[in-house]
Amino acid sequence: MESVQVRLMREDDLAGAERASAVTFHEGDRLTRRVNEPEPQPRSETASAQWIERMRYLLTTDPGGCWVATDGEEVVGFAISQNRERFWYLATYGVLPDRQGGGIGRRLMDAVLAHADGRQGMFSSTVHPGATRRYRLAGFTLYPQLRMVGEVDRSTLPSITGLRDGDAADFGWMDELDRSLRGAGHGPDHGYLVKNMRLVVARRRDRSAHGYVYVDSRGRAALLAASSEDIAQDLLWEALASAQGDTLVNCITTANHWAVDVGLAAKLDIGQEGYLAVRGMGEPAPYLASGHFL
Ligand SMILES: CC(C)(COP(=O)(O)OP(=O)(O)OC[C@H]1O[C@@H](n2cnc3c(N)ncnc32)[C@H](O)[C@@H]1OP(=O)(O)O)[C@@H](O)C(=O)NCCC(=O)NCCS
Repeated sequence: MESVQVRLMREDDLAGAERASAVTFHEGDRLTRRVNEPEPQPRSETASAQWIERMRYLLTTDPGGCWVATDGEEVVGFAISQNRERFWYLATYGVLPDRQGGGIGRRLMDAVLAHADGRQGMFSSTVHPGATRRYRLAGFTLYPQLRMVGEVDRSTLPSITGLRDGDAADFGWMDELDRSLRGAGHGPDHGYLVKNMRLVVARRRDRSAHGYVYVDSRGRAALLAASSEDIAQDLLWEALASAQGDTLVNCITTANHWAVDVGLAAKLDIGQEGYLAVRGMGEPAPYLASGHFL
């Protein structure tokens, strides 16, 4: 235990942290798999490269929130968090399975919470008992999350009007919307997300209602924010219309049943997964958080 050092992350830790993350979450998925779910697969090479690229961006943007635990050359734990205005989020957090339960997670969590400096905060949590215990003790409220899974029945797709592709010129009002829903804009994260995903926006001409959704390469809604539930539903339908094969709508908290209604209409099934942990704020709505950018 004394040999484990908890310190700020460096660029040359990224590959080791990725390996630790791949092993930790694969094992976590295996242990929490339900009998009707397929056997979890190890992270693909493409997903590993994306993880490193995403974490490199976070490390560059707010390095003080990125920590690792190392034993000699080996990364045995990681906690990557970010401050944005008066808001803090935890992008990812884990300790290698054979090193868990020895206090490393606690030290990493203390480091990232010190960086948060009392900010309100949010992250998406697994059901791991060590994780949820730590979060509640750190003052977070745990909102159970639903998710919708399955193949979209394309005969149910409604015709939606009033949407267009968005770009950097939309970030100003998108940040304002973020502030009204979660207390802070995504700021630079919008610039990162728009490079990697399709951005679809809704903005009524009289500006009375607006919203946006990022849709990933598989047609999944990765982050959605709206000023009203009907705009949120239009945006989610747009994402579902581009879904290929089995799809997933994640991070649906109780206040966001408008998303459950869309999912059911599209003939998706309701599942349950983890918690949205928040501190100093309520659960955002109408809003579907992104797992890594919240
Ligand atoms: C969550 C995680 C990072 C915690 O790291 P860790 O090194 O195991 O944590 P610690 O040993 O510091 O223990 C943290 C607390 O959880 C408790 N705990 C740890 N493992 C536990 C378990 N299996 N069951 C119940 N409590 C547990 C500890 O007693 C401790 O509580 P305390 O501080 O009140 O004494 C680690 O277990 C992990 O990587 N889990 C799998 C991935 C995951 O779920 N990550 C969270 C993503 S949101």
